[in-house]
Amino acid sequence: VKLVTTHQLMAMKQRQEKISMLTAYDFSMAKILDGAGVDVLLVGDSASNVMAGHETTLPITLDQMIYHAQSVVRAVKRAFVVVDMPFGSYQGNSSVALQSAIRIMKESGGHGVKLEGGAEIKDSIIRILTAGIPVMGHLGLTPQSIYKFGTYTVRAKEEAEAQKLIEDARLLQEIGCFGLVLEKIPAVLAKQVAEELTIPVIGIGAGPDVDGQVLVVHDMLGLSKGFEPRFLRRYAELHDVMTDAVSRYVEDVKSRSFPTKEEGY
Ligand code: KIV
Ligand code: NA
Repeated sequence: VKLVTTHQLMAMKQRQEKISMLTAYDFSMAKILDGAGVDVLLVGDSASNVMAGHETTLPITLDQMIYHAQSVVRAVKRAFVVVDMPFGSYQGNSSVALQSAIRIMKESGGHGVKLEGGAEIKDSIIRILTAGIPVMGHLGLTPQSIYKFGTYTVRAKEEAEAQKLIEDARLLQEIGCFGLVLEKIPAVLAKQVAEELTIPVIGIGAGPDVDGQVLVVHDMLGLSKGFEPRFLRRYAELHDVMTDAVSRYVEDVKSRSFPTKEEGY
């Protein structure tokens, strides 16, 4: 696989090759992730938390998402780049949604967009798709609705919410989404959706029986501290590695052991 396309992501599902996806918000990190072979890079609105330090994803703006996406796109040689549409840029008015999606595609060079929700935002998704912009859905725990949920706990445990999720997933496929993220829902439900749909279903906290996995890169690298949900596997402890490196630098400066004569001109 050279350049990853929506067509290839579909084909990966068909041949049961799992899809790897991680978030990326900046050039340096995106270069590493793309070089390491990640199939899909998500310029997530989790940048609001991870990069900007906000408590929720709600405050991040369209301009800020475009800035992050531009930085990521500059680094990418192979991965498919999906850009989250931020809160307020697509809900309620499909004309506004289309304008927002066009700005993302035009100004960032990203390859597709992701929106949270199902039937409620159907018109917006259809209008964006009609412009030829690939759309990824996102159901389950949708953080832009955190004040409706009131908690970041697992979603769709009750029959009614599970049924609505299944119907929304069918709808998203039917109207033409190229893929779907399922966040923090029971594994059996995610399995059922992935088996029924022909488009790739990417899980986060949705168990193993989906077509791919996504994690927030700062979480899986152990850059963030104190966020330890069950679904998060940490592949490094970069917080500790970096704290150690920086502490030694501070020490060396204070003790005058850095720089040496040889490290000067
Ligand atoms: O913004 C984000 O990081 C996401 C993933 C968790 C799916 O939407
Ligand atoms: Na997101």
